[in-house]
Amino acid sequence: MAQTAGLSLADAARSMQPWFHNLHLPDGTQTAPDHSLGDFPAYKWQELAPLLPQDMTGWTVLDIGCNAGFYSFELARRGARVTAIDSNAHYLSQAAWAARVYGLAERIEFRRMQVYELARIAGTCDLVLFLGVFYHLRYPLLALDIVREKVGRLLAFQTLTMPGPEQGPEVRDLPFAQRGELVSEAWPRMAFVEHSMAGDPTNWWVPNPSCVEAVLRTRALKVVARPGTEVWLCEPDPEGESSRGLGFEEEFAAALGRAAPGGG
Ligand SMILES: C[S@@+](CC[C@H](N)C(=O)[O-])C[C@H]1O[C@@H](n2cnc3c(N)ncnc32)[C@H](O)[C@@H]1O
Repeated sequence: MAQTAGLSLADAARSMQPWFHNLHLPDGTQTAPDHSLGDFPAYKWQELAPLLPQDMTGWTVLDIGCNAGFYSFELARRGARVTAIDSNAHYLSQAAWAARVYGLAERIEFRRMQVYELARIAGTCDLVLFLGVFYHLRYPLLALDIVREKVGRLLAFQTLTMPGPEQGPEVRDLPFAQRGELVSEAWPRMAFVEHSMAGDPTNWWVPNPSCVEAVLRTRALKVVARPGTEVWLCEPDPEGESSRGLGFEEEFAAALGRAAPGGG
């Protein structure tokens, strides 16, 4: 962890570079003022913020891939209790430091964890943020299935996407003879990145928007809002449960090393 005692906020922030989140600190310092995406993620938060209650007292939030904690701080300011996880120790130390600077440390628990480790933790949270992580994963669908188990009321989902129409066909069954459909622009598709994208070897899979929506549907998540580019807000859809039947549940259990459903 960086030694920040006795440093001004500006010097302390500088000692913890590089920053991905541009936090606005109480003295006016910005942690990533030259971010290639602009004032990030403040402008993404502006898209999502109006869809969430102003007063979130009593809400529990799980922020997956919290980075330096921007979203966790906004939600804690609204009164929520936040569990914030990230696999990266550098970003987590930035987040823990900033939580102290903002006086929010009491409301947020930071944990260094892989998203997959959530499978071993019981319970749900009212709001789950799964923003900017999906495309960084070698096993994105496994992760989403694990994340789905944590969603109490709402899931905010964001991913890098490849170009394509927002919604594609919801085809119940595709005959082999019509497999040409699979390369149509609107078909749910995910591109694999063998080496690196934008200089980042952790970019593995890039879905098109219709793939995002299809994948969410298959895990009983109903899109209730599309607040901005590449952002979806979803609710659990009770009617969508087990749409793929027991075969899926068995495969998921096996992947997690859990007992097979139904004792099979
Ligand atoms: C693109 S940043 C997104 C940060 C933030 N959620 C946002 O939307 O601004 C991806 C974050 O996910 C974290 N991450 C990547 N793979 C992860 C994994 N397998 N488990 C947990 N966190 C992961 C990275 O360390 C990084 O902080």
